[in-house]
Amino acid sequence: MGLGVLSASSSTLQLALLFFCWSLVCADLSYTVPEETRRQFVIGNIAKDLGIAAQRLSARKARINTEDSSKRYVDINLSSGDLTVTETMDREVLCGSRMNCVLNYELVLENPLEVHRVSVKIEDINDNAPKFLNERITFEISESAVKGRRFQLDEAHDSDIGQNGVNGYSLEKNHHFILSVHGNTERGKYAELVLDKELDREEQKEMDLVLTAVDGGTPQRSGTAVIHITVLDANDNVPVFTQSVYKVSLAENAPLGTEVVTVRATDADEGANGAVSYEFSRISDHAAQLFSVDKVTGQIKVRGDIDYEEEKYYEIKVQAKDGSGSASTANIIIDITDLNDNAPKITLTSLKDPVPEDTAVGAEVAIINVQDKDSGENRQIRCSIPKNVPFKLNSTVKNYFSLVTTNTLDREREADYNITITATDGGSPPLSSSMTIHLSVSDVNDNPPVFDEQSYSAYVAENNKAGTSICSVTARDPDWRQNGTVLYSLLPSEVNGVPVSSFLSINADTGVIHAVRSFDYEQFRSLKVQVVSRDNGSPPLSSNATMSVFITDENDNSPQILYPAPEGKSLMTEMVPKAALSGSLVSKVIAVDADSGQNAWLSYRIVKSTDPGLFSVGVHSGEIRVQRDISESDSMKQNLVISVRDNGQPPLSATCSVYLLISDNLAEVPELKDMTYEEKSSKLTSYLIIALVSVSTFFLTFIILILAVRFCRRRKPRLLFDGAVAIPSAYLPPNYAEVEGAGTLRSSYNYDAYLTTGSHTSDFKFIRSYNDSTLPAGGTLRKNLNDSFDCTSLVGCPSGDSEFLIKRPDGLVAGLLCF
Ligand SMILES: *[C@@H]1O[C@H](CO)[C@@H](O)[C@H](O)[C@H]1NC(C)=O
Ligand SMILES: *[C@@H]1O[C@H](CO)[C@@H](O)[C@H](O)[C@H]1NC(C)=O
Ligand SMILES: *[C@@H]1O[C@H](CO)[C@@H](O)[C@H](O)[C@H]1NC(C)=O
Repeated sequence: MGLGVLSASSSTLQLALLFFCWSLVCADLSYTVPEETRRQFVIGNIAKDLGIAAQRLSARKARINTEDSSKRYVDINLSSGDLTVTETMDREVLCGSRMNCVLNYELVLENPLEVHRVSVKIEDINDNAPKFLNERITFEISESAVKGRRFQLDEAHDSDIGQNGVNGYSLEKNHHFILSVHGNTERGKYAELVLDKELDREEQKEMDLVLTAVDGGTPQRSGTAVIHITVLDANDNVPVFTQSVYKVSLAENAPLGTEVVTVRATDADEGANGAVSYEFSRISDHAAQLFSVDKVTGQIKVRGDIDYEEEKYYEIKVQAKDGSGSASTANIIIDITDLNDNAPKITLTSLKDPVPEDTAVGAEVAIINVQDKDSGENRQIRCSIPKNVPFKLNSTVKNYFSLVTTNTLDREREADYNITITATDGGSPPLSSSMTIHLSVSDVNDNPPVFDEQSYSAYVAENNKAGTSICSVTARDPDWRQNGTVLYSLLPSEVNGVPVSSFLSINADTGVIHAVRSFDYEQFRSLKVQVVSRDNGSPPLSSNATMSVFITDENDNSPQILYPAPEGKSLMTEMVPKAALSGSLVSKVIAVDADSGQNAWLSYRIVKSTDPGLFSVGVHSGEIRVQRDISESDSMKQNLVISVRDNGQPPLSATCSVYLLISDNLAEVPELKDMTYEEKSSKLTSYLIIALVSVSTFFLTFIILILAVRFCRRRKPRLLFDGAVAIPSAYLPPNYAEVEGAGTLRSSYNYDAYLTTGSHTSDFKFIRSYNDSTLPAGGTLRKNLNDSFDCTSLVGCPSGDSEFLIKRPDGLVAGLLCF
């Protein structure tokens, strides 16, 4: 995304740099230190010179960078701010013969990024003695040489510079020669041997003179050479170079053996006096490794690796000497030209990793430094990073780039970035290098858990076991580790005034919801709770969802008959007029079921009747109707057992008995109360009595029937039964309260009788009550109950027998008499 262009020729950048320096105080710090200074020597205090508190240096990650990644000789002490020597410096190695020996460094401070140039000037000390290349200088001098004749002497070489360089020469005292010294400290001094007194070969054929070169340092150092003079006959000419200065340029990395230049000197003399040989007379140790001169041809060749980055130019003196030692020198200046042979070098100066995902846009996450040792175009570096990352490179200071965010980071979308920084220089062909920075994004709790659904519903059948799991909820949180760990809970609330926790519980880890107790559909049908999911971050984030639990019905309630009162509770009798016609309504069974739906859908059926076919019950209405016209032959007492059944799976049912008396007047029913007192053992007597009574009753009934028929015809009694059935005002049996009041009968005490045909004794038969011990003490029925109660079978009179209703003193029908 970021693309920085570094160009010394770009005026925009210069302007930017100027502005930058203006605002950031890009002041140069200059220090001077003598060479060969021991380590830890304090050169100066940077903190003080910059006006920064020394304690701040650490926090701002102060460090000393070299401009071109070369060796570092000084460093900063972060606690004191002192600039100290870390490596002993040898000026001669670092700078050779250059007068000005300066090491350039950059002091980098972060937050905000500041770069200061620090230059350390290395002072020369006199640690090298002058030295002659040849320790033996030979001359063959003709004895004819005139006084004043000059012979150039080899120059002594001293690696030190300035005052510490060669400063003077002296010659051992002798009778023939004196020394003449020329030159200055800058250009180097050289000496000439001057003939002061003519030689006489006959007097002295050879002589050795000690030549001493001294430097100007303190303490003074010196070097010596021996001048060996052989006295000969004449040699008048010295070799003369074709050029006094040879200036050539040589590309770096030139292969070994490449010719640099060929120097040529001519000597007018003949023979050995005119034979010229070449040698370097003044050459730095370093240059001596790189160049060689052919003694005979004067061809100078490359013999080592030429590196522009090491040395940009060489100045060499070459000497041409004839056979007798007469010499002259020429200067060779070799300019090394740069080739783009160094790729840019990327250094990661600082990196903030991991980066929190809530890092502000524009925040600095890394600082990189790029260097190229080449020069000019070859060191103009462009830096780029891929466009698909939310980062860009900002070039604020020369050679430094800061990587800043251009967009908000989201760890949940992209958790790490591999950013490849590519640096390309401006050479042709350009060289480039790249570096990959791995940046990971660290998590911040910025996502609340989210439920899969906003509302859940679950169905649970009533009568469930406590502890059954009802359903499970899931919330997801994409954050990392505890920031994304979801815990579930139920929001405390109340259902019907009871805390919801006594109905439901949730597993905090899995989100599975359990029923705490068994539910009863008939108590409540649904409940609603808020489920909260919360992550484990700090502060935690949460969300909630609605959970509705619907309880479904099970057929756990059997129908309840409200009217007539359930079996045994009472003995209620419906009067049916004798004149009732087919289809008329005589009564209605009313039942309810606490369940719902199919489970409460009731159907009515007659399971047993005195006269099948006389009455029918509406399957769904429970209405009892006369099915055919009642005739005289129909039994007066009709008994129906009706079963009420719901539609559940499996169905539940209840039965009830309906007593119908086909009569127009209850008074017509004969009083047979006393019959209950008959002793069962005296069957004959009772049969007699019964026969008597029945004959008279039959007669009486016949009279009454005739009267009634007449009366009914006149009264049109059917009207009475048209429309609704007369239903008691309360569904409880009429005697219920009364019995309760007497304190002797419990509501569980019931007895009943069925009017049926098909039983084969004329005994009183009763359906056993729920609890016969609750019979009223002294009740008139006790004996019969004890003797003939049959728990299981329905009883009635044999077909054709007359049946009579027995009434209790309180007016209720108490029994049935068959005869
Ligand atoms: C980044 O590089 C590392 C190591 O090469 C690798 O494991 C990781 O998947 C890379 N990430 C991306 C986002 O490419
Ligand atoms: C969770 O988020 C907080 C900030 O909300 C952060 O400090 C913490 O490091 C995160 N935890 C993990 C495990 O990443
Ligand atoms: C439940 O969520 C709704 C909507 O997100 C919010 O208004 C309500 O405050 C939340 N309730 C609780 C107790 O967190």
